Amino acid sequence: MRKQIAAANWKMNLTFQQGEKLLDDILDAEVKMADHQLTIFAVPYPYLLMTRSEVETDEQNYYVAAQNCYHKKSGAYTGEVSAEMLHSINIKYCVIGHSERREYFNETNATLAEKTDLCLANFITPIFCCGEPLSIREAGKQNEYVANQLKESLFHLPAEKAATLIIAYEPIWAIGTGKTATTEQAQEMHRYLRSVLAEKYGDITASEIPILYGGSVKAGNAAELFACPDVDGGLVGGASLVAGDFIAIMKALK
Ligand code: PGA
Repeated sequence: MRKQIAAANWKMNLTFQQGEKLLDDILDAEVKMADHQLTIFAVPYPYLLMTRSEVETDEQNYYVAAQNCYHKKSGAYTGEVSAEMLHSINIKYCVIGHSERREYFNETNATLAEKTDLCLANFITPIFCCGEPLSIREAGKQNEYVANQLKESLFHLPAEKAATLIIAYEPIWAIGTGKTATTEQAQEMHRYLRSVLAEKYGDITASEIPILYGGSVKAGNAAELFACPDVDGGLVGGASLVAGDFIAIMKALK
């Protein structure tokens, strides 16, 4: 069965102490994940080890993710963090190509292909983000735009590697804006992305890849979004910073 995933993306929010408190509050709720369900916390680099020791226990399907890594293996890149470094502290997931990284740090589809390769070489599952800006949606060209992001960053991978990816569709016009895609818009794009994956890798591989929705997922809309047949959970920014809201989102997984 395809994994269903609630992924928190803290972005550049919370002090270490606030992060610890938020995790404590979420863990106190003891939300049980079924075997096919996962919760992933994408936290700032300095909090990775603390978060991993808090959440990664045997009984729960809770994991920690980095929010980024650099696209080179190692070397003179002051301030950057490599996939190998993340692997050396046992990090199993990494967000790749979030729209904020694409926009503010000029990350291109080609750079993201390199990051994806380095993650996979280091046993890290990329949570690969894609999604169109408002101008593209208004021009009705969102399908081509998003398919191209997958093609240029992922389609060099063989099927057995592609099958291990997590994809997050995050329409940029819905991120942090309070404006959520409708369930119809989300399902339509997720089904389309799965068909693009199926065309390249075959139906079986495409049916194994979780496709998360991101963009103003809230406690109040998560269940409706996650009920869509091709929506396999969410990548959650703002609402992941409030324990009660994120707990409700975890419980909304199918
Ligand atoms: P949001 O962010 O839930 O605050 O819209 C989602 C994301 O950017 O991952």
